[in-house]
Amino acid sequence: MTLCDYLADEAASLDFASNLALALKRQLQHEQRGLTIFLLGTLGAGKTTLCRGLLRSLGHSGAVKSPTYTLVEPYELEGVPAYHFDLYRLADAEELEYMGIRDYFEQNSLRLIEWPQRGEGILPSADLTVALDVQLPGRAVTIEATSASGEALLQKLQEQIAGT
Ligand SMILES: Nc1ncnc2c1ncn2[C@@H]1O[C@H](COP(=O)(O)OP(=O)(O)OP(=O)(O)O)[C@@H](O)[C@H]1O
Ligand SMILES: [Mg+2]
Repeated sequence: MTLCDYLADEAASLDFASNLALALKRQLQHEQRGLTIFLLGTLGAGKTTLCRGLLRSLGHSGAVKSPTYTLVEPYELEGVPAYHFDLYRLADAEELEYMGIRDYFEQNSLRLIEWPQRGEGILPSADLTVALDVQLPGRAVTIEATSASGEALLQKLQEQIAGT
């Protein structure tokens, strides 16, 4: 299943993120090993903006900085730990082994991953892939479910958007 939308400005991205956050909250209750979302798109496509909206909607009140140099930033949200990865500066996918990437995927956590292509071969697969494309003045977004959990999540997102 795939969902397409147009996010006319940053506010539209944040609004979209709040709908996705509500769907995520519901779907995470059915998961034991959490959920993974890949964010694709060129530099400046709006990946971090969506992550910021998601983390805020999930109850994080502080800043959301891009974890470009640290590769991962942890967030302790109500009940569920979240990890925001930005793999842009990852030199070699093998580095992920050294940072214990598996551990992040074994717990019931939310993983948001910018530039997942850099981890290809080692990074576990995603449940949902969000692709952003600059189409001025805003961004086109395409969301694809890439697992059974992802399908259930996308279903909930669709219900959420239809209801608002
Ligand atoms: N829907 C939107 N419409 C217009 N501008 C947007 C939208 N979403 C985000 N932006 C703007 O795009 C710029 C880049 O956003 P952001 O930092 O989220 O991109 P990114 O994809 O994370 O980039 P990078 O690959 O460098 O990490 C910001 O100035 C942000 O305000
Ligand atoms: Mg970013």
